[in-house]
Amino acid sequence: MNSDKIKNRTNGNKKKIKALKNTLKNRKKSSEMNNLGKIESFAISNSNDITSQLTNMSISTNYEYLGEGVSGVVIYPAISCPDINIDYSKYVGKISHRIGKNSKLIESKEKIENLPNEFNNIAYVKEMYICYIEENPGINLDIKFPCTQVIIPRISGDNVLNIMKKYSKSSETKDHEFMDLLIATINFYDIVVNLTERKIFYNDYDLTNIMYDPITHKLMLIDFDDITYGKPKYAFINPVKVYLTSVVFQIIDNMIDENYFEDNGITQDRENCTRRRSIFQKYEIELSSANSFAKSGFEKLRENIHQIYLEMA
Ligand SMILES: Nc1ncnc2c1ncn2[C@@H]1O[C@H](COP(=O)(O)OP(=O)(O)OP(=O)(O)O)[C@@H](O)[C@H]1O
Ligand SMILES: [Mg+2]
Repeated sequence: MNSDKIKNRTNGNKKKIKALKNTLKNRKKSSEMNNLGKIESFAISNSNDITSQLTNMSISTNYEYLGEGVSGVVIYPAISCPDINIDYSKYVGKISHRIGKNSKLIESKEKIENLPNEFNNIAYVKEMYICYIEENPGINLDIKFPCTQVIIPRISGDNVLNIMKKYSKSSETKDHEFMDLLIATINFYDIVVNLTERKIFYNDYDLTNIMYDPITHKLMLIDFDDITYGKPKYAFINPVKVYLTSVVFQIIDNMIDENYFEDNGITQDRENCTRRRSIFQKYEIELSSANSFAKSGFEKLRENIHQIYLEMA
């Protein structure tokens, strides 16, 4: 390759990296906005309903609000639809008013169906239905019906971001609760690697796209819109390391840095953080040490975290 070609390629990569950084920055912003969640982005408009500030969608308080994305809300239980005969008390509805994007929904259904059965109900749930909601007394939109609903089984627990916020707000949270989450995330690596070896790329590892059940310690992926088969969405990035590692380090940072969530008004117990930090440092895991992780490798990190687990027990 001549030097001009190399230069062009390097410049191209720089541009891509810049674009990706912006995407990630915006995503971070929007997920923080969404996941301040229930209270901040939803205002109780009157005694009978809850209105979304993001989408101008309101839902009756007969439904439990679980999450909100750019395109709508996730509610429990799902709204029942003709021809879909399921026990609705076990399903959530992801309601979207992006009417023009139905082909996208069908595409995501296909993507989910193509996921390996091996990890079904272990790392994700493949069951999904799509239906249209006509006029419904429980949902009000500022635009006309029909809207679409994706029905998926309710996954126990909450997304990892919300779980960490709960843990960080409570001085009652024990080390082992954080550590169980951390170990579960570290162990999830094997599944991610397995999927990657089969050329299945999730592309959207994010604290809000991974559900965690604090009782069973099980993690589940949700939100499969970005899956690609064959090639990762961002070819110049290691799909396993960058994303899952950032999830791992956000959990660690939250455990050991009392300032980490300060912007969200979340108070970590200073003494607990300092004590945990010294244990992590002993195993060469520093605050925001994503870079040092890249040097030491994942297996080493996993080993160290298991050691820390024993030490904290
Ligand atoms: N099956 C489920 N069970 C329980 N809670 C869920 C489920 N699916 C989604 N949620 C909750 O709703 C939130 C948003 O869901 P999801 O990530 O699927 O949509 P989104 O990212 O907001 O939407 P978009 O597809 O527009 O990006 C999740 O972070 C989670 O808290
Ligand atoms: Mg999501």
